[in-house]
Amino acid sequence: MKLSAPFVLILAALGVAEAATHLNHGRVARHHALSRNDSVGKRADKSGRCKVRPTSTLVSSSSTHHSSTHSSTHAAQTTPAALNNKDNDNGSSSSSSSSSSGSNKGSGKTLGTANSLIRFSSNSACGGPNASKDITATRGPNGDIDWLNCGVNNGGWNPPYVQVSDIVAVDLYEALKDPNTPFKACSAYIDTFVKYANQHNIPPILIASIAMQESSCDPNTVGGAGEQGLMQITKDKCGGAPGGNCKDVDYNIKTGTAFFAQTLSDNGGSLLLTIGQYNGWPKGMTYDSATAAAHGNCCPCQNNLDYLMQTLNGWVLNVDPYTSSPRIGQYFNLDVCHRG
Ligand SMILES: *[C@@H]1O[C@H](CO)[C@@H](O)[C@H](O)[C@H]1NC(C)=O
Ligand SMILES: *[C@@H]1O[C@H](CO)[C@@H](O)[C@H](O)[C@H]1NC(C)=O
Ligand SMILES: *[C@@H]1O[C@H](CO)[C@@H](O)[C@H](O)[C@H]1NC(C)=O
Repeated sequence: MKLSAPFVLILAALGVAEAATHLNHGRVARHHALSRNDSVGKRADKSGRCKVRPTSTLVSSSSTHHSSTHSSTHAAQTTPAALNNKDNDNGSSSSSSSSSSGSNKGSGKTLGTANSLIRFSSNSACGGPNASKDITATRGPNGDIDWLNCGVNNGGWNPPYVQVSDIVAVDLYEALKDPNTPFKACSAYIDTFVKYANQHNIPPILIASIAMQESSCDPNTVGGAGEQGLMQITKDKCGGAPGGNCKDVDYNIKTGTAFFAQTLSDNGGSLLLTIGQYNGWPKGMTYDSATAAAHGNCCPCQNNLDYLMQTLNGWVLNVDPYTSSPRIGQYFNLDVCHRG
């Protein structure tokens, strides 16, 4: 299918200054790609040995435990954002409420403020998105976590039907202008993300977000089951790689993006389903199925239950969901793998 609506987004600086000061909250919890039932083509690490991926210059890989207290040394607090989904702006570009208090669950702080909210007109078993202009741990411009995870705690994941053109996202070039952007590690590849994402009418920052999530934007990353490069594409997709080098940046992004677009198309344009699947979430996933691996020999093979929230109200809004304070999410079910 063709995505009809052109995806036009604007934004100005959204600041999360904490990123640089929380180097110890590393990204080791990102072993979603190893989930067992990944219909999108990834494989469980049959060895049960979950590789800790190399991390970018933004984070230390040495975080074997998460300190539960955030230090009081946070640098400058949140710059109010001027996020904007142009299609959704409806002429009211004024007044982002200054960040101020957040009395939302799970958070006393906001991480940014947008001018617009996700569009949603379909029916959903979980009602409406309950979006908020402020980004908090569990809620943001692209909806709240209970809506994104609809059904996980009640019968199985049943993602609301959201299209690419419905979401709020930051322009990738604008994101890089923010000195606190979490995408610094991707900066050498931005043009390539933009080129291939635009070919498929996908916001470039969404593809870069996947690369951050999958490899921390390190093109040399090899996953536990041999997944390759920035986008952690599986070996079966490496046939056309130049000189057999599947980590080749252009090939890797081109192939990963085309695969995402094909999956989106196969899913009838359902973006939440597609993002989830890229991370190994099957439709019908329950809390128990997602966390079953916590009790086995590959604890990090669990599905990260905060993944959709972290992607849609974190990365695509130029906020690092791992190093932000508060962290974005409410389950943190992979933390248990790093204790002891
Ligand atoms: C824009 O806002 C006006 C007034 O609030 C409302 O009537 C109209 O439906 C809105 N249009 C869109 C496309 O949201
Ligand atoms: C919307 O989100 C707020 C803050 O998380 C929560 O208190 C409220 O119950 C939510 N409303 C619905 C209808 O889910
Ligand atoms: C994984 O897939 C197998 C076979 O398709 C199925 O029997 C099993 O219930 C699935 N497990 C989860 C957690 O979805």
